[in-house]
Amino acid sequence: MALTQSGPARDGWSSRTAFILAAIGSAVGLGNLVRFPAEAGANGGGAFVVFYILCIVLIGLPVLLSETLIGRHGQAAAPESYRKVAQNSGRSTAWEHVASLGVFSAFVVLSFYCVLGGWVLYYIGTFVADLFTTGVVGGAFEGSTVEEVEGLFPAMISDGVTTSILNLVFLAITLFFVARGVSGGIEKVAVYLMPAFFVLLVGITIYGMFGGAMAQTLDYLFTFEPQKLTGPVMLAAVGQAFFSLSLGVAGMVTYGAYVGRNVNLGVTSGIIATADTTVALLAGLCIFPIVFAAGLSADAGLGLMFQTLPHAFQEIPGGSLLGLAFFVMVGFAALTSSVALLEVPTAWVIDRFRFTRTVASIMVTFFAAIVGVLCALSTGMLSDWHPLGFLPMFEGMGLLDTLDTFTGKITMPVGALLTSIFVGWIANKRLVDAENGLGGALHVFWRFLVCWLCPIALAAILLVGIFPSIVA
Ligand code: PFF
Repeated sequence: MALTQSGPARDGWSSRTAFILAAIGSAVGLGNLVRFPAEAGANGGGAFVVFYILCIVLIGLPVLLSETLIGRHGQAAAPESYRKVAQNSGRSTAWEHVASLGVFSAFVVLSFYCVLGGWVLYYIGTFVADLFTTGVVGGAFEGSTVEEVEGLFPAMISDGVTTSILNLVFLAITLFFVARGVSGGIEKVAVYLMPAFFVLLVGITIYGMFGGAMAQTLDYLFTFEPQKLTGPVMLAAVGQAFFSLSLGVAGMVTYGAYVGRNVNLGVTSGIIATADTTVALLAGLCIFPIVFAAGLSADAGLGLMFQTLPHAFQEIPGGSLLGLAFFVMVGFAALTSSVALLEVPTAWVIDRFRFTRTVASIMVTFFAAIVGVLCALSTGMLSDWHPLGFLPMFEGMGLLDTLDTFTGKITMPVGALLTSIFVGWIANKRLVDAENGLGGALHVFWRFLVCWLCPIALAAILLVGIFPSIVA
């Protein structure tokens, strides 16, 4: 096998639909299904949801379009794409380091994201086993107490051997698709799994409409109580919007680089953001009716998915099957996102070192596996290890939480902030306008958002993220 490549014709999406599905696949993930309901539940429901939607439209969407247009102009891995835009605008090529930071963030997120992917695999296995013992008809985990069902989660995360192995399995599945290339692997996983994901999501939501506490859910998610819109709630909403749209890690730059010139990026960005937000809202409409119908509370954070929901499945007929369908759906969404996360550093290694895709993706996976196993152990035997615990922001956190906070509150907002400055102020206006596919008032509005609102809002998020006492 040749270790390096001499620059064959570039692989790319086979159609506009393939690009849209892959980008939606990148955006829709654990962020929508685990983090959004958990954050909405922990931050007072309606106030968070309404502000979240505003953040998607006014900050997320403009940055999403900025990232894809840089990629499409550059037609290369993220740093090279930033460099080309800078060069063609007569500016310093040092701007490529914004993307280098993104590549680094994507690698770090990949490392801990696949640990969570492993947790999802564990629950899929648990529900399969339960289906064989309990059967299809009754609730899940027949004969087990609530404490036993809710105790599955702490028992799992403290068992570092199991979570490490499942993390490696999830990484290996991700590698399988990325190694096969853009049109041969990455788009295939999206084209098959995203429609299956939507069917499962809508099916479970309809179940909740009839069998669950839908009225209470609607009231909870959409009643806007302005007094609940505090600083920390706003901060949580903005951070969630960015994570959910896969921004600030050069992911959308990387996917944009495989898009042909005939695609209108303004329109596709709108479709991607709408789909991502719809899925987040549907996830709320899917999870809370089941949780409320079982008389449980919405504010359990991560425990909502891994403790409250399994307990709720215990209470309802057909719970084993529904639980299995639910976690399979979460697994599909997580996989299309982890594929995007692995593609970002892989594309960089291919461009930078001219390695073949197979070698590049295996190399990145190898390093992500090392960091991932340390993350998996950080909720068990390494839980006393607080790598950045000397800084107030990371006090008491194990490696997994440290990396999540470090990327979510520092490197991703910095990446997005610099990207909006780059597109709004540094890049040549004509070059940008030729790529963005917008016209008339919409174009003027987008420029205003990218030049002013995004940088100011992102700088505020960063400050508040690093010095939380400002809003406390
Ligand atoms: N947007 C994904 C989610 O909501 O789970 C997470 C993610 C995927 C972030 C891919 C960044 C990325 F490049």
